[in-house]
Amino acid sequence: MVNWTKNKKSVKLKFHFEKEKVIQSMKDEQLIISVSLGKQKNLTSKKIKNAVAKGINIIKSLNLYEIDIELGEILADKYFEVIVGAELGTYKYKGYHQKSSSKAVNISIIDDGSIDEEEWERKKNIVKGMLLTKNWTNMPGNKLTPEILSKKIKYTLTNVGCEVEILDKARIEKLKMNLINAIGNSSANEQKLVVVRYTGDPSSPKKIGLVGKGITVDTGGYNLKTAEGLKYTKDDMAGAATVVGIMHVIARNKLKINVTAIMPLCENRLSNSSLIPGDVITSMNGKTVEILNVDAEGRLILADAITYAVRNEKVDEIIDLATLTGSIVSTFGNVYTGIFSNNAKLAKEISVAAKEMGEKIWRLPLDDEYKEKLVSQVADIQNIGGPTAGAIIGATFIEHFVEKIPWVHLDIAGTDFYPGKLSEYETGGATGAMVPTLYKYIETKVWQ
Ligand code: BES
Ligand code: MN
Ligand code: ZN
Repeated sequence: MVNWTKNKKSVKLKFHFEKEKVIQSMKDEQLIISVSLGKQKNLTSKKIKNAVAKGINIIKSLNLYEIDIELGEILADKYFEVIVGAELGTYKYKGYHQKSSSKAVNISIIDDGSIDEEEWERKKNIVKGMLLTKNWTNMPGNKLTPEILSKKIKYTLTNVGCEVEILDKARIEKLKMNLINAIGNSSANEQKLVVVRYTGDPSSPKKIGLVGKGITVDTGGYNLKTAEGLKYTKDDMAGAATVVGIMHVIARNKLKINVTAIMPLCENRLSNSSLIPGDVITSMNGKTVEILNVDAEGRLILADAITYAVRNEKVDEIIDLATLTGSIVSTFGNVYTGIFSNNAKLAKEISVAAKEMGEKIWRLPLDDEYKEKLVSQVADIQNIGGPTAGAIIGATFIEHFVEKIPWVHLDIAGTDFYPGKLSEYETGGATGAMVPTLYKYIETKVWQ
């Protein structure tokens, strides 16, 4: 945790391109720690984040908590990376320990006066959005049921000026969102559909739609997961948590744009009222769906949420985020987020935003040949294809419900969460990935 302050501190942290990894010195009675960024020509935003995190953690290990970070020429325009490195490098999910131990560091930034204060605040808000996403995604399933999550969303986003509506099981049924209820009814912890409206430009009818998968626990239902697979399903609501993080930044930064967020929140449990493979459900869209694998539940709840976004909220484009497939984890590990789109321009704009924010995404294809895998003997469509191309098939299923609106699907199953520490600033657990990218994409759209 970081408190950003203004006064001069006891330790100075700076950066260099020399070979020597860490250089320690004293000047005017101030301890100076200088951390290497590696070779100048190989500098990446990840290296900056890691060097910042490393420097702060070295200082913390000396039991010192008052730090001046000198941006110098090297990092003068890289302060977003500095904030990310500092906040994520010192992040620890507080959890449910009886005694908590982590101590905040107080950091002030020394620059040459060129930092625009408002831009600095906007960047800080992006990282705050990431922290919100991380904290919520890290919460255990029993502490964050659909009902609790829906209330947290309402409280948090109403506070920053959004309109929040929570639809309960009966409303969902009335709207014929039978896929959402088919999954939600597997649990006594009731499903919710949360709709958030941010109106930053009342003069425009245009709206961006964000849709996030909010499975608070995923047992796989009758397609029960293995003991290993069951351990970390609390992150299956990361799509929804990421959407909340993005909405929080948009609202805090008062973007002149309209965004509507839709989050279906359900548990996917094994119970007397769970679906059984072979069951057929009629979606809100009208298409009938044969459910051949109950563990492919994310695409089902997203399908109805997207129909609702298109027909009831009348959004002009859709960006959905979901921890959708193990297949994307096999493809990219925890390095790239997989993206899929029916619109080259939109996919390109989001890729540009990702590059700018130092996040890695890669577009995978959609193709009519994959649609054949979803042809069902008894219904309009089935919810799984064959044993191969799982992430693409998942995206293809969702595509059936977007009604030709420009759409991007981000499969974040590999990048939203990992159990162990990956690097100095990637300390394990939820990551907040894609909050910066999608915020940036939306911010860029305002100026167009
Ligand atoms: N939430 C999972 C995807 C997942 C798996 C995320 C592993 C992170 C790690 C999703 O609901 C799921 O179970 N997908 C199945 C789909 C399959 C049955 C077609 C999968 O990927 O195994
Ligand atoms: Mn599943
Ligand atoms: Zn799932």
